[in-house]
Amino acid sequence: MRNEQRRTQVDRGKFIVFEGIDGSGKSTQIQLLTERLKKEGIYCYTTMEPTDSPIGSLIHQIMTGRIKTDNKAIAALFVADRMDHLLNDVNGIVAKISEGTTVISDRYYFSSYAYHSIDMPMDWVIQANELNRNLLQPTVSLFIDVDPDIAIKRIAQNRVHQELFEKKSRLVRVREKYYEAFKKLEDVENVIIVDGNQSQEVIAEEIWSKIGGYFI
Ligand code: ADP
Ligand code: TYD
Repeated sequence: MRNEQRRTQVDRGKFIVFEGIDGSGKSTQIQLLTERLKKEGIYCYTTMEPTDSPIGSLIHQIMTGRIKTDNKAIAALFVADRMDHLLNDVNGIVAKISEGTTVISDRYYFSSYAYHSIDMPMDWVIQANELNRNLLQPTVSLFIDVDPDIAIKRIAQNRVHQELFEKKSRLVRVREKYYEAFKKLEDVENVIIVDGNQSQEVIAEEIWSKIGGYFI
């Protein structure tokens, strides 16, 4: 391998994705990981899906019931939002990764595989995300696995209104679909599952023990 090629590979930023059902503690753990990385002197860019772009805001309006459309159209909007998340000129994450920035995202394509395969074949959702996957695959997808009963209690305590996907029976199905997707893609994706039913501190330690090695 030529030096130039080797340097390009070494310099690429890591892409860490957090996955889980609603209320699983993703944002909490992202914050804790960001603080930990900062202590280690590693700057990172945190982001989320759906994004706050015009496509993402359309999705938010659908999730809160302000706009109605078919579930397949919603799945396609998430594909478009993700493409914009990757490529837009202002803060597209493909450019950030190639500049060497570590990017941490709250959700990515496994969310689509899990949430949308309830209403349509998972293979369709995987295929629809193929261009996104070719552009950027996570260094690791961290799945915070939480009992849906616990997740629903956490959501109820903290939100004024529950969104479309935040019903217990749905979260049970979504969790099953995540596992189905992990099994289906076990040869091509790097997935780490963490027990999210523990305290925030214990989960953060477990995450660090599993991914700290990517940085140090
Ligand atoms: P998500 O981003 O996955 O929806 P959050 O990080 O927003 O989840 O967590 C949902 C709620 O549960 C928040 O109020 C948060 O403070 C709380 N929470 C997060 N992790 C834990 C934990 N391990 N134990 C108890 N409560 C938690
Ligand atoms: P949000 O309230 O933004 O975040 P969270 O619950 O993760 O803290 O809700 C995002 C919702 O969008 C969540 O219910 C999962 C859903 N979703 C999909 O259905 N498909 C997708 O591709 C993504 C990224 C999210």
